[in-house]
Amino acid sequence: MKGIILAGGTGTRLHPITQAVCKQLLPVYDKPMVYYPLSVLMLAGIQDILIISTPTDLPLFHRLLGDGSALGLRLSYAEQAHPNGLAEAFVIGADFIADDSVALVLGDNIFYGPGFSSRLRECAASLDGCVLFGYAVKDPQRYGVAEVDAAGTLLSIEEKPALPRSNKAITGLYFYDNEVVKIARSLTPSARGELEITDVNMHYVRQGRAVLIDLGRGFAWLDTGTHESLLEASQYVQVLEHRQGIRIACLEEIALRMGFISTDACYALGLAMANSSYGQYIMDIARPASRS
Ligand code: G1P
Repeated sequence: MKGIILAGGTGTRLHPITQAVCKQLLPVYDKPMVYYPLSVLMLAGIQDILIISTPTDLPLFHRLLGDGSALGLRLSYAEQAHPNGLAEAFVIGADFIADDSVALVLGDNIFYGPGFSSRLRECAASLDGCVLFGYAVKDPQRYGVAEVDAAGTLLSIEEKPALPRSNKAITGLYFYDNEVVKIARSLTPSARGELEITDVNMHYVRQGRAVLIDLGRGFAWLDTGTHESLLEASQYVQVLEHRQGIRIACLEEIALRMGFISTDACYALGLAMANSSYGQYIMDIARPASRS
């Protein structure tokens, strides 16, 4: 399975902080925002990942992450010249996806919760059609909204409905079989001029091949779309990390635990950042015995 991170958009709702740097590179407490969605793909066991961003921002992602080899990944990069919608990712990424299945994650989505990694790996292993993730929110009209029957079967999805049929938002993490490329190519732009991910998902819903996994109330799907929610996301991460002495979405740690890199390679990555507590944490993870 391949992975795509879509990190486009203009970030106008966060101006002026997104005037010089794109939203997905802003800090969420101790690391750039894009680390969080990248960690999700890594936890699903995905090592071939395409990062799609604007022509201006793409070089910044490359400067941050390089070719990914330090983390045992194979990263490639592609431009989305205009904000033509999320589904355009599969048109831009068609050659990269080739005949594989693919997981798409939005570059500003933060997921955290118990058992998430094993769920991700199950999805990747048993994919037939598409898998979407639902999450209860108090402002569903801002999202794609799922309509489900009493048994939890997905009946329809509406994009940003004025009168939502439920409080279940469709999160920005999607698993698809290879048909997604053909579906995306067949779409026409919506009223707002975008190739809509909701239209892709509705193809699968109509075929009865869309599964909705409810992330449940103990789970955190954090918003980063406003100044308040961006700060709250940082505070959430800070509280958890300080209380437990762990790091969320520490790419070096995940690469080690997933077997993508060796202990020595992980230690070296920490050493290169030894001046920061993040670097120290990686060194401790790699060599627990070296703790003083
Ligand atoms: C997009 C999707 C929407 C989804 C949301 C998740 O919205 O169109 O269906 O619920 O991502 O973050 P956008 O971020 O483009 O407003």
